[in-house]
Amino acid sequence: MTSPAAGQAGDGNPLRDAQDRRLPRIAGPSGLVIFGVTGDLSRKKLMPAVYDLANRGLLPPGFSLVGFARRDWQHEDFADVVHEAVKEHARTPFREEVWQQLAQGMRFVPGVFDDDTAFDTLKTTIEELDKARGTGGNFAYYLSVPPKFFPTVVQQLKKHGLSDAPEGSWRRAVVEKPFGHDLTSAQELNEVIHGVFRASQVFRIDHYLGKETVQNILALRFANTMFEPLWNRSYVDHVQITMAEDIGIGGRAGYYDGIGSARDVIQNHLLQLLALTAMEEPSSFDAKALVTEKLKVLNAVRLPADLGKHTVRGQYTAGWQGGQKVLGYLEEEGISPKSKTDTYAAIKLEIDNRRWAGVPFYLRTGKRLGRRVTEIAVVFQRAPYSPFDTTDTQELGQNALVIRVQPDEGVTIRFGSKVPGTSMEIRDVTMDFAYGESFTESSPEAYERLILDVLLGDANLFPRHQEVERSWEILDPIEEHWERHGKPEPYTAGTWGPKAADEMLARDGRSWRRP
Ligand code: BG6
Repeated sequence: MTSPAAGQAGDGNPLRDAQDRRLPRIAGPSGLVIFGVTGDLSRKKLMPAVYDLANRGLLPPGFSLVGFARRDWQHEDFADVVHEAVKEHARTPFREEVWQQLAQGMRFVPGVFDDDTAFDTLKTTIEELDKARGTGGNFAYYLSVPPKFFPTVVQQLKKHGLSDAPEGSWRRAVVEKPFGHDLTSAQELNEVIHGVFRASQVFRIDHYLGKETVQNILALRFANTMFEPLWNRSYVDHVQITMAEDIGIGGRAGYYDGIGSARDVIQNHLLQLLALTAMEEPSSFDAKALVTEKLKVLNAVRLPADLGKHTVRGQYTAGWQGGQKVLGYLEEEGISPKSKTDTYAAIKLEIDNRRWAGVPFYLRTGKRLGRRVTEIAVVFQRAPYSPFDTTDTQELGQNALVIRVQPDEGVTIRFGSKVPGTSMEIRDVTMDFAYGESFTESSPEAYERLILDVLLGDANLFPRHQEVERSWEILDPIEEHWERHGKPEPYTAGTWGPKAADEMLARDGRSWRRP
């Protein structure tokens, strides 16, 4: 899924291209500025990912990391915070020499987003790093801040001449979700960002696309011959996409309340998984070809006419999880006791095209469910006729191909097999591929892959604004329906969601998988 970065492969010489593709992809001279550097994401994901990339030798020796936040910190204080985050959350072992080299390129700029002096300091910091560390004017700005601050930050970057790259270098903007809370706000955000940065400079993070197993959907489908002939309405009964979490909302009340599970993860992660599962084969794996195919399928998504019957939202109540008593959503700190925010959502979608007409795609997500698991299950139709004695074979399920996105990354195929013995009893068995068993390399964290791609200018794994807007267009009518009708169904923490979600599938003669 890698396209050549500028100045590397891809100059038209087929021999060199073939060689270059086998080389590790290493970022050229560059630096990263993180806005919102004191936040959770930065500490748990971004800082460790930068260190892991450095540790794997994928960053240039002079790589620089600039933190920008409202804290009275010196550069050394910032480096201490990064050090702690790396020690606690990095994936690869701590190596003092790697750390020392990285730490030399760390700078901190104190300030608030509308403070001109702080942006002047940022400018001089970048110029100083260009001289001292050879960053060559190449900087990515990571906006790990709530969307209400996007306009101020991007305007400030423009006003202070930081958005335009000096001749021969690049400037890029990395935007974290949420990209708005509905279609209108997403369009407004996109307008603000595109008022300052060209489309090719903007990288929207959907960290699910950085997961190894998500990229493997494309390998599974398009590098093999045995799955694709069955991947259509003639053989597939339905598809279930599940993203279940065992955690609650933790300290994220401020972000989560009023947003809810569907906006938090269906609008982005789950619709991206649907697009990759259902799309046609792209003509190549470059960003443009991928977006074209993903958009075609998202444009073909149709909502059921009766949203009351085919969507469900839920909210967890107190219960037990992993042997511990846990609070209900309404008792969590910072949540209004009257909140109608969904912590569980299940929706049925159809895709109006020749491949998928009539095949439902069921999407569900929730916090405080039975366990943490994300999977895509393609469930096949039953054999049109069974010659086996029904008295011997009573419990045969449907064939299924399950892409296990996490945590036990791999692929499972379920099919019927004869039980040893004198009778012709058939029972479901599974055939498994597990990443951990087949490969010695461990998968990089999604953020490692995505930060490296930003530094390389490789946009394949980043949704374009058209996809983001189309995804809101799909979700908005559901949110409006929920807004108008009732409140979320309660479900006990540690279970698999509200009863209404089981009933929703039962009405279609189906049931949810118990992952
Ligand atoms: C984020 C959501 O995008 O994904 C969180 O905002 C969620 O609510 C998280 O917990 C899950 O990510 P992962 O990689 O742990 O599945």
